[in-house]
Amino acid sequence: MGDRPYILLSCGMSIDGYVDAAGDERLILSNDADFDRVDDVRASCDAILVGAETVRRDNPRLMVRSPERRQARVARGQRPSPIKVTLTEKGDLDAGAAFFQTGDVEKLVYCASSAVGEARHRLGGHATVVDGGQPVDLRRMAEDLYARGVCRLMVEGGGTVHTQFLTECLVDELQLVVAPFFVGDSRAPRFVGDGAFPWNPDRRATLAEVRQVGDVALLRYALSPRCGV
Ligand SMILES: NC(=O)c1ccc[n+]([C@@H]2O[C@H](COP(=O)([O-])OP(=O)(O)OC[C@H]3O[C@@H](n4cnc5c(N)ncnc54)[C@H](OP(=O)(O)O)[C@@H]3O)[C@@H](O)[C@H]2O)c1
Repeated sequence: MGDRPYILLSCGMSIDGYVDAAGDERLILSNDADFDRVDDVRASCDAILVGAETVRRDNPRLMVRSPERRQARVARGQRPSPIKVTLTEKGDLDAGAAFFQTGDVEKLVYCASSAVGEARHRLGGHATVVDGGQPVDLRRMAEDLYARGVCRLMVEGGGTVHTQFLTECLVDELQLVVAPFFVGDSRAPRFVGDGAFPWNPDRRATLAEVRQVGDVALLRYALSPRCGV
């Protein structure tokens, strides 16, 4: 267990379990107080990971926003923001994306073996491209991150990535925020896809905390003994 980071999966969803709208417009699920809470969680981590589709669709910066939190990290001998991590099978990522262009931090791209050459050509000046297997093996990736000094990893989507981390039993803590509305369109992406999840009617997860943050609810689940309840 000690050979991989503590993995915290953070996600916001609608009451009916969707994490985005069906169309091109970006769906805001959280509120200001919860964005600030997420910023605090980010500041406590060594690395933040999202899937390549989230990089392409949402173009996130994945940085700590609060100047005080950035300063506190620097005072602890860390970079102002955590390392950024993504994974891809096709390697089709734009070096101009905010993921690569913002923040004086290391960017790691775990790429399927077949696309490593192309990805290095495309992203080489902006990120370290790591051969992650075919497809990328998440457990191996987690071990490699740990070997690079990542002790606490935050996973921030999307659903394809969540599904794999959860079904492969790699998540120590789940922070799920439920926004007070429905999406009601099954074309929209969901929190997770189909899979054999270790938590089921015969093996219930441990609910560690329920917290109201303005108009959203934070549900914190302890999914491994490493998560302090
Ligand atoms: N509400 C929230 O908290 C939240 C957070 C983040 C994202 N989202 C939403 O989630 C949606 C995107 O989710 P998504 O499920 O479509 O995509 P995703 O999970 O962000 O990314 C999926 C992509 O990651 C790569 N990938 C995943 N597993 C891999 C593996 N084992 N090996 C190699 N590559 C792998 C592939 O990239 P390639 O296609 O490049 O091969 C795959 O297409 C967006 O609508 C976004 O807005 C919501």
